[in-house]
Amino acid sequence: MNKLIKDYLKFYGGRTLGSAILFSRAEKVIPGGVCHNIRYHPPYPCYLERAQGSRFWDVDGNEYLDFWMGHYANILGHSPQVVIARLQDALSRGTLLSGIVNPWEVELAELICDLVPSAEAVRFCCSGTEAAGYAARLSRAYTGRSRIIKIEGGWHGACSELLYAVKWPYDKPESVGLPAAGQCISIPFNDPEAAAHAIRTHAQKLAAVFMEPVVGVGGFVPAEPEFLHIVREETAKVGALLVFDEIITGFRLGLGGAQKLWGVFPDVTVLGKVLGGGLPIGAVSASSRIMQTCNPFVHPEKWERAAVGGGTFSGLPLNMIAGIAMLRYLKENQGWIYPRLEEAGKRMRERIEETAAAQGILAKCTGIGSLFMTHFPFQAGLNLRSPYDVWVQTQVPKREVELKVRLLNKGIYVMHGGGAISIQHTQDDLEFFYRKLEEVFQEMQAAAPEPGQ
Ligand SMILES: Cc1ncc(COP(=O)(O)O)c(C=O)c1O
Repeated sequence: MNKLIKDYLKFYGGRTLGSAILFSRAEKVIPGGVCHNIRYHPPYPCYLERAQGSRFWDVDGNEYLDFWMGHYANILGHSPQVVIARLQDALSRGTLLSGIVNPWEVELAELICDLVPSAEAVRFCCSGTEAAGYAARLSRAYTGRSRIIKIEGGWHGACSELLYAVKWPYDKPESVGLPAAGQCISIPFNDPEAAAHAIRTHAQKLAAVFMEPVVGVGGFVPAEPEFLHIVREETAKVGALLVFDEIITGFRLGLGGAQKLWGVFPDVTVLGKVLGGGLPIGAVSASSRIMQTCNPFVHPEKWERAAVGGGTFSGLPLNMIAGIAMLRYLKENQGWIYPRLEEAGKRMRERIEETAAAQGILAKCTGIGSLFMTHFPFQAGLNLRSPYDVWVQTQVPKREVELKVRLLNKGIYVMHGGGAISIQHTQDDLEFFYRKLEEVFQEMQAAAPEPGQ
């Protein structure tokens, strides 16, 4: 094996020539060759042409079983007919429809208010990033306070308000060009004492605590009940808002998201991903009282109200129509969809650990419902309860490069060693994945340096 280029990278290069050429062109006109840094992996990402069901095809004609599923958005699989048919019909009537109000935004808002317990009113935008930024502004405006607490490792998109303490080390800025740090404070996940302490310390100036009830970056690790209850109680005591970022969990863990599953209700909920039915979307929702903060009839003076929304494409008819098709289908079929995804995810997490153990590889698979993430811990017996645990106790590059590219070579796409199962993943698909994973673990074990080497 060439000492500089690993054999699995060479093999990947051999079957993805078209992607190599596209990436070399992209590097000249798109910084780093990608528009979202997580899309890059060595030696270069594969460029896609088409996606259907549980699969996609790259420009070189390779077929892949996909577990990234549109950043976890495509719970019905790629290009589901229930959405595509509605979109084809909608397209015949136009796209932006001049950017005036449309009936579908009303219907989608009504559906959200029906399904998400904390939602009595909604405003739409085009991404989760926008929705999270608006929720930060709304919280500040409603409480008249400035500070926000977030979770170390929590990702709420690239909005400036919350782009702090996302990647380890948490005390270093995530980007240049952000407003001076100090208004966004981070706390460790699943540490009730640290949460209570931080909330009390910042009580007078605290506008909101933001959290993903299931932290994506930490391997879809759920908030533990004590942590959730402390954060809920303490924020209520000091008059700060609790904001749930349910952009991953909304309509995926169940129709009412994590809040309905666990019976812990935030003041504000931000939504995205699944909600868009495969098209760009973000939504900020809360009680009517909180949402009135952005109502121009209630607060006619601009300096008295929060600016939430305002984009050219906010409430875009196509996005609203795709979202309605998605939510209606989930609502009508919830009786079998969620139990089936739950069972498939549970089995997936068990099989990954069993398959690794059978090959003498130490792997742990975390997650909840249909979400799963594989980790390679430095030692056995570790409990991964937070993004911090994942960063310091596991071999992240092994998951992000070696596992990923070896699986790509066998026609399987994972993100962070895992992803999301959709209703289009058949039992045969899952068995195919387990067989290929076994081969990959065998290869990894064979390529691992002997102890002492
Ligand atoms: C939990 C969470 N919040 C917010 C976002 C940002 O959403 P978007 O990518 O639509 O801007 C993401 C996206 O990955 C996310 O996972």
